[in-house]
Amino acid sequence: EHAEIGLIGLGTMGRNLALNIAENGYRIAVFNRTAQRTDQFVAKAGDLAERLVPSRTIEEFVASIKPPRAIILMVPAGEAVDAQIQVLRPLLDPEDLIIDAGNANYHDTNRRAATALSGGPHFMGIGVSGGEQGARFGPSIMAGGDRSAFARVQPLLEAISAKFENVPCAAWLGEAGAGHLVKTVHNGIEYADMQMIAEVYGIMRDGLKLDNSAVADVFDGWNQGVLQSYLIEISAEVSRTRDPDTGRPMLDVILDRAGQKGTGRWTAIEALMLGTPAGTIEAAVGARGMSARLEERKAGEAVFGSAPRPIAQGLLGPEVLEPALLAGKILCYAQGFDLISAAARQYGWAMPVPEIARVWRAGCIIRSALLNDMASALEEQPGRNLILAPFFADTLRRSEDGLRKTVAMATLHGLPVPALSAALSYFDIMRTGRSTANIIQGQRDFFGAHGFERTDMPGDSFHGPWAIA
Ligand code: 6PG
Repeated sequence: EHAEIGLIGLGTMGRNLALNIAENGYRIAVFNRTAQRTDQFVAKAGDLAERLVPSRTIEEFVASIKPPRAIILMVPAGEAVDAQIQVLRPLLDPEDLIIDAGNANYHDTNRRAATALSGGPHFMGIGVSGGEQGARFGPSIMAGGDRSAFARVQPLLEAISAKFENVPCAAWLGEAGAGHLVKTVHNGIEYADMQMIAEVYGIMRDGLKLDNSAVADVFDGWNQGVLQSYLIEISAEVSRTRDPDTGRPMLDVILDRAGQKGTGRWTAIEALMLGTPAGTIEAAVGARGMSARLEERKAGEAVFGSAPRPIAQGLLGPEVLEPALLAGKILCYAQGFDLISAAARQYGWAMPVPEIARVWRAGCIIRSALLNDMASALEEQPGRNLILAPFFADTLRRSEDGLRKTVAMATLHGLPVPALSAALSYFDIMRTGRSTANIIQGQRDFFGAHGFERTDMPGDSFHGPWAIA
């Protein structure tokens, strides 16, 4: 009996995705470059093994799938994907479909999608979020590429995806690399969410002198309210957990150098390329980079003294940090959605923004209660900045003070808050009807005769009566 779908690449994510697919009743062909891993996987699959169709050669693998075939690639992003496509192409029919489910750079996906148009097989790039558990029990799936090809695998993708109130968190979001771009922005937002949580953690640890279990309690409390989210929930867990070997809190034994595989950075790069403001995400990427400079930071502390200073009792507390985080989050998501809209315009892709918010409501790393409200707000006012939607405008009015006070207090006490302060600056600029770009225009015209528009005579370009020094 033929398999209904195939999957190549049995790393952690690939294995879990394959089990998820099998558990949903599909027969799935599996292949891994080293056959030993395939054997081990099938041996450990228990009852699900009967729906797994293992192969030792790629030819056998392809032959084991029912045409028109659909094959999911779960190999490391980059050259491995191109290499795998090279191997598959001669073995596949034009009607077959290759689905790259890794964290690809969407420019690569654009290129692969374009190649697929010249003679097939079809190609789709899908973003899959939710880590190991998500892959196994229900990820959020951001699909992009060939829409008719998507229709073929839609029932399967919906079946294996996370559900929010019975609605599958899997959708086609646009042509070519759109799915991977949305996943990239998801990761940029993930970086910013994590960084803002790290910033308030820093304020609690170094400013308010709370111990780890007190910090855990604060996160737990927040997880019952407007900030309810997976990342707050796991932050509480991480803060509470102790090292079994030493008995010390895990947070005290973990080195303060953050890793990154690059997707958050791609979001910042895209924002700069598309000319859309994403300061909060850029700050989060920058902060990860700075965290890696351990020796330099130590040298800086030796020369200038340690920056963080305790905040006196009563000046700032968790009740102020909660609205700060809420405001920061809204402002950061506004930047992310804006970036997606800009990319949609640039490439002429569908990328329905409310649908994207819906797909993020469950399964993915940034899932949170707020995303449901975001989906509704973006639906009500298509094309408008999230912060201008009545619900979020109201929420920002109520949380603004918390953000401003938090950034001000942190700044006065040497507690770094790059992402939160970037969010606040974004907010303040977005509500400054008359910006300071008039002097920039004056400078540009002065040194380069670049011209400027006048407030009192719109449209034309003018030059200033500058006295040349
Ligand atoms: C997800 C995550 C995941 C990503 C990690 C690692 O949505 O499940 O975004 O895809 O690979 O979060 O990212 P960094 O190593 O860059 O932190």
